[in-house]
Amino acid sequence: MVGATALALTGCGGGSGAAGGGGTLRLALNQTEEHPSFIALEDFGNRLTEGTDGRWGIEVYANETLGAQQEALQLVGADTVDMAIVAGPQLENLNEEFVAFNLPLVFDSIDHQMNVINNPDITGDLYSSLEDQNISVLGGLTAGTRNIYTSEGPITEPADLDGMKIRVQESPIHTEMIERMGGSATPMAYGEVYTALQSGVLDGAENNEVSYMTQKHYEVAGYFARTEHLIVPDYLVMSTERLADMSEADRAVFDAEWSAAIGEHTELWTGATDEAIAEAEAAGVQFNDVDDETFRAAVEPLVDQSLTSDTIRELYETTRAAAE
Ligand code: GCU
Repeated sequence: MVGATALALTGCGGGSGAAGGGGTLRLALNQTEEHPSFIALEDFGNRLTEGTDGRWGIEVYANETLGAQQEALQLVGADTVDMAIVAGPQLENLNEEFVAFNLPLVFDSIDHQMNVINNPDITGDLYSSLEDQNISVLGGLTAGTRNIYTSEGPITEPADLDGMKIRVQESPIHTEMIERMGGSATPMAYGEVYTALQSGVLDGAENNEVSYMTQKHYEVAGYFARTEHLIVPDYLVMSTERLADMSEADRAVFDAEWSAAIGEHTELWTGATDEAIAEAEAAGVQFNDVDDETFRAAVEPLVDQSLTSDTIRELYETTRAAAE
């Protein structure tokens, strides 16, 4: 009986190397090498190599060198790139149910977000929903709290954004969000934002403090309004086919080390945010608080409007219940 079970388990990995494939997994990232995601993913790769006696490794390609997120995601689906970090809106474009975690006001804090997006009881079906497109969603990292920054300012209420072109991620919901917040939304890939701000194609963008500093957006948009309008996840996605190449024992190491990487990333995040704020202040960036109520009122209708199916509503409501 024991022998039969062991055999069955060995056989169920699927993929060509079910009995123990290996190799260096190429991971597409759009951040710089100073960003907490790069650091935590590199450490993940090193521990994976150690734990699998060198059978598996990860090479993190920073700065969009394997493509911007939209393209990287397609390459993972095509099994051309093994893994990528992509933000929530990219997955929303493949399965609208992901919108539940991309809405304004859904997460109260990064801790709340992390408790939800890595809880398989909540995310199980959602994360396996893209496997027929060869995309396995393995869990999430925080992408911090997002705020609006502009080249002219300060911005304190929605009326101040009137006529301003503000970059958003490629997401219909985020486009509408900026319109409701008073601005004119321009969807664009992350790596293009600096030049667009510099040339005046954009008047502003929205992101967390770490991205604002590591992408050097502060050099060309020196007014930072603490709108705190979004806390969106980043996801680790992997080619489903490639994942099936892992033996069960190596997969266990992989899962444990990925889990450790999530913990490391969350810990690094707070320090990196404090550091980014200090550096921005030293560089002369003007931070200001905003009229929270007017911004909140502007985006609130988006939530109800986005709960278009039972699954989305349930994901949203379970998430809200986890905040209390
Ligand atoms: C953050 C996030 C990225 C995302 C980027 C963006 O940096 O971590 O995953 O791509 O914002 O605004 O595009």
